[in-house]
Amino acid sequence: MREIKVLFVCLGNICRSPLGEGIFRKIIAQQGLESYFIVDSCGTSHYHIGEPPDPRTIANAQEHGIALTSKGRQISAEDLRKFDYILVMDKSNMKNVLRLDETGEYKKKIMLLRDFDKEKPGEDVPDPYFGGEKSFESVYQIIYRSVENLISHITKNENLKKSE
Ligand code: 4NP
Repeated sequence: MREIKVLFVCLGNICRSPLGEGIFRKIIAQQGLESYFIVDSCGTSHYHIGEPPDPRTIANAQEHGIALTSKGRQISAEDLRKFDYILVMDKSNMKNVLRLDETGEYKKKIMLLRDFDKEKPGEDVPDPYFGGEKSFESVYQIIYRSVENLISHITKNENLKKSE
């Protein structure tokens, strides 16, 4: 069976994309879809390579029963080849990721996560890094509902069957 590879991308890989990865893992586990997927996250910058997620993101995820395990890494052109679904958090990330796609052959794989947010499709996931605690919870809610819809989309698109 071919595994479906899903990559979440933000700027630092310590706030939004680790959370996207953690929420995705939680929902596919609840739905019995784990065996179909490889899930990862990365940043467009080199700022936090090797670092765990931001303590505020870790605490927020923990409140929702999600343990985050990622270590910061920077995206490379190889990621564009390897991953099937590449979800960026904002339009600045999109620009930076598209810059790595020199021939444009991977463009179709690269999507804004909030294109899956029925409340505000096409908006950016706000960067909570410089905001207060409250923004971490609102970012959680945005990412959660977008990831839920993303998983429904992939499940239909790939014709996946849920197991018990
Ligand atoms: P993230 O948030 O892109 O959601 O991980 C940020 C983390 C760190 C920085 C910016 C955004 N920074 O400038 O260090």
